[in-house]
Amino acid sequence: MNISKMWINGKWVEASDGGTRDLVNPADGSVLARAPEATAADVGAAVGAARAAFDGGPWRSLSARERGTILFRTAEAIRARAAEFAETDTRNMGKPIVESEFDVTDAAHCFEYYGGLATKIHGETLEVPDNALSMVVREPVGVAGQIIPWNYPLLMAAWKLAPALAAGCTAILKPAEQTPLSALMLARIFEQLDLPPGVVNIVTGDGPTAGAALVTDPRVDKIAFTGGVDTGRTVIKGAAETIKRMSIELGGKNPNIVFADADFEAAVDGALFGAFANQGEVCSAGSRLLVERSIYTRLVDAIAAKASRITLGDPLDRDTKMGPLVTREHQRKVLDYIAVGRREGRLVIGGGTPARADLARGCYVEPTIFADVNNRARIAQEEIFGPVLTVIPFEDEADAIRIANDTPYGLAGAVWTRDVYRGIRVLKQIRAGILWLNTYHPTYNEAPWGGYKQSGFGRELGPYGLEHYLETKQINLNLSEAPLGWY
Ligand code: NAI
Ligand code: MG
Repeated sequence: MNISKMWINGKWVEASDGGTRDLVNPADGSVLARAPEATAADVGAAVGAARAAFDGGPWRSLSARERGTILFRTAEAIRARAAEFAETDTRNMGKPIVESEFDVTDAAHCFEYYGGLATKIHGETLEVPDNALSMVVREPVGVAGQIIPWNYPLLMAAWKLAPALAAGCTAILKPAEQTPLSALMLARIFEQLDLPPGVVNIVTGDGPTAGAALVTDPRVDKIAFTGGVDTGRTVIKGAAETIKRMSIELGGKNPNIVFADADFEAAVDGALFGAFANQGEVCSAGSRLLVERSIYTRLVDAIAAKASRITLGDPLDRDTKMGPLVTREHQRKVLDYIAVGRREGRLVIGGGTPARADLARGCYVEPTIFADVNNRARIAQEEIFGPVLTVIPFEDEADAIRIANDTPYGLAGAVWTRDVYRGIRVLKQIRAGILWLNTYHPTYNEAPWGGYKQSGFGRELGPYGLEHYLETKQINLNLSEAPLGWY
């Protein structure tokens, strides 16, 4: 049994009360390792370390260049252990190994990207009256508390830590309680790079205890959160108490819109990839497929035929397209939604756990498609976060836009059409932060990621992601030798 420790103030520690949590491989139910279950006091210790490292520690005297170099070295070190990182995420959360490898590549590049941006942080000088010079300077926001979900364990850690460190912040990262292993591997890298103690702390534990302690600690200046919308509400309320800066990303129910003039095969592919990549456990999943009436039946038949050939299986197998869901509990939740879907739509394919005996111990759910669904149905409104695709017909462009926007969420979406003018026209009317034309899912470290409406606020990635780790200060220099003359 591999018993992990967490990383607080540059030391590997157990929970102060000795508590641990079993980490389960969702492919077969075996216990992979055991992680400390942080108490509120442990989180407090991590926050204290991050506060001290920020307020007086050596981190503040490092130049942007030196911080950038650390991020470049982090990227290198991730690449050097790419296979181990990929296997760790796959064993811990069940995603196909090929997808984990993509995540590792992206995570390394994310550190590199922000390593480059570290030296491009600068303010400006303003022309102001009164013979003065107004300087605008950018400073790190301070101590960042970062809470991430289980669906992209390493990549989410990179999205959070890289911009924070580039900006000069210190951080406490709390991985999802189910999937802390790759974040702990990242801590090992920071240790080897001699990051000063307290600059990064990786605290393993659950949401209500460890997460909440981070959110409510007055010594934390900023909370970055990715997760479900209900948890998001709790986090926002907790962080509001001490007026923390916040960036919040909360999933979606994203429209993937196919017009009759689309490249049919490409749209079929995009519909399946959008819905079933990473088992559908993706905030930006194309979980609502909106299809123009004239090709509706043909398209539903085509995606059903292809979905029936998706290889479900051992996520370490390179041919596997869909692994198990993250936990037994989440599998149950998704199966409950499928039961609701049977009442709300026409089940076209899937609808349960696979019959294969070799998959019985894993948390598998078949790729499932419901057609003829009304957009007001629960399976069209609520985030299922699993391999369940809801297909809805539309009549014309205006109808497509109306249905697309008829959701409390506003994270992502796509349009498939050969008419580029229409494509852009429709995309501009969708109230969401991440949109694709004739593709689904590609995500770039260079481009801002985040949602409209109840999908959250703030943007990660790109220069926008750095903004949320910076404060803005004006310093006014009086250039006039004459006194103010107030009396
Ligand atoms: P969750 O939102 O509860 O968990 C995400 C993170 O928040 C985890 O690190 C968790 O420990 C932490 N957390 C939980 N309660 C907290 C609290 N009171 N204070 C501070 N931190 C807290 O997600 P969960 O329960 O795993 O999944 C529930 C649903 O949320 C999913 O079915 C899915 O619909 C959605 N979700 C969306 C994600 C996204 O990427 N936007 C990621 C994960 C889940
Ligand atoms: Mg939860």
